[in-house]
Amino acid sequence: MTVSNEEELAGLKEIGRIVANTLETMAAAIEPGMTTAELDRLGRKLLEEAGARPAPELCYGFPGATCISVNEEIAHGIPAERRIEAGDLVNIDVSAEKNGLFADTGVSFAVPPVTKSVERLCRDGRRAMWAGIGQVKAGKPLAGIGQAIGDFARKNRYTLVRNLASHGVGRSLHEEPKELATWPDAKERRTMQDGLVFTVEPFLSLGAQWATEGDDPWTLLSDPRAPTVQYEHTVVATRNGPVVVTLPG
Ligand code: CO
Ligand code: CO
Repeated sequence: MTVSNEEELAGLKEIGRIVANTLETMAAAIEPGMTTAELDRLGRKLLEEAGARPAPELCYGFPGATCISVNEEIAHGIPAERRIEAGDLVNIDVSAEKNGLFADTGVSFAVPPVTKSVERLCRDGRRAMWAGIGQVKAGKPLAGIGQAIGDFARKNRYTLVRNLASHGVGRSLHEEPKELATWPDAKERRTMQDGLVFTVEPFLSLGAQWATEGDDPWTLLSDPRAPTVQYEHTVVATRNGPVVVTLPG
């Protein structure tokens, strides 16, 4: 969507805060031995209490309130009986709707004890996302986002998953502009309009280049298998730069 007034912006910030707070509380609750279904139940409860509806379920009939992906799973993991163990790399992606507005946010983190390289991957995944967000400004080319993330990944010797793109959001979970590359894309010619709402969500990896389908219709796996992280915010492009709506508070 394109935000055209203060009321819409306030509504987006409200659902943004709800998904961010839900994600933060879920992340803090993780303990080895817990199943991903238990973690998802907490997320569902928090969203419900805030008057929000889980977007993956609402928009796609996804079997869960949030997407929880562990290790080789990198996106759209189904909350189930898998137990989170020490050393696991866990991604939680929370998206929801309230009053017709949607926001989307995600975080990866490693359950201690973790190797230095995975610890560094988590820190740098966040930095890669912010490198992309730093390019957000009305009137600037959308391609600048993928370019900045690509430069960061190359300099720090990471790979980027090249078939999981960012996307417009706001009136639905996924909407125009679709397929926003978080990697350098010479074919990208679109410009950020004032008020445009979209996600910035690079998948930074120690070797993966693609997301491939797993055994169920939802879960996506790293290919080749390698530790992979995703950090995601929903942003609004304005003349003054990015407004990040998915901040806890
Ligand atoms: Co997401
Ligand atoms: Co998203």
